[in-house]
Amino acid sequence: MKLTTSTLHIGLKKPVRLLHVTDTHLAYADERDDARKRELAARRAGGLNGETEAYLNEQIAYAEKNCDLLVHTGDLIDFVSAANVEKARKLLQNEKIFFIAGNHEYSRYVGEAWEDNAYRMNSYMEMGYGLGVPMFWNTRVVGGVNVVAMDNSYYLFAEWQRQRLIREIEKGLPIILMFHDPLFEQSLYDYHMAIPGADCSYLVGCDEAHLLPYSEFRAVQQRPDRPTLDMIDLIKGEPLIKAVLTGHLHFDFESMLTPTLPQYVTDCGYKGVARELIIT
Ligand SMILES: [Fe+2]
Repeated sequence: MKLTTSTLHIGLKKPVRLLHVTDTHLAYADERDDARKRELAARRAGGLNGETEAYLNEQIAYAEKNCDLLVHTGDLIDFVSAANVEKARKLLQNEKIFFIAGNHEYSRYVGEAWEDNAYRMNSYMEMGYGLGVPMFWNTRVVGGVNVVAMDNSYYLFAEWQRQRLIREIEKGLPIILMFHDPLFEQSLYDYHMAIPGADCSYLVGCDEAHLLPYSEFRAVQQRPDRPTLDMIDLIKGEPLIKAVLTGHLHFDFESMLTPTLPQYVTDCGYKGVARELIIT
């Protein structure tokens, strides 16, 4: 396991330790799925499912021994298959794991279709009503910190999520937010767009000027709507929100969304990477 450590000072009496894991991308399929899915599994896993699962088990064991919670920000599975769903459902029964979905949780053949709420809900039904834990919204209080998780996996937040976040803020506890897709921040955008071949930044809340270099498809895919922009305003203006944990980009990055609000992007779990966030 490649462990990164980040420290956040918010004035807790006793430290809270979160192990942040994201983008595990389990890619199993067997005779219960069709040949197309089995071919996809072979291509996407590249023979590394065993290694990926070994890393995941190591991360879980580390969290069970050293942390208050393992927070997983999605793409635990790479696509919907009987074997992936079975494994994910079993893993997520572990009380020590707190999970929110990423875009791949709902992916059927990876990039074969336009992914919107209808696509997401059809996959959700196909899984047997998701993965046995809340997929779109969840909260957990640990050591006096309110961990609030929301699905923003298609680059959008919904108004109902904003309403629920307001209810959580009213509880008065410090909040750690977790979701799959990172929020727009200039240095992160610049870093990503400088990667050779990049046709977008995969960030939530880009304004039209920042969408301009995108391909047409990526601009449509990632353009924020009004509820999404309202959610970002709420997040950036709320002093009880102390940090944002995200994934999706498959690299490590730390930057400030506001002068007081850090956003952590954590690299892929399948590479063995995990971030221990020590909150003091
Ligand atoms: Fe993702």
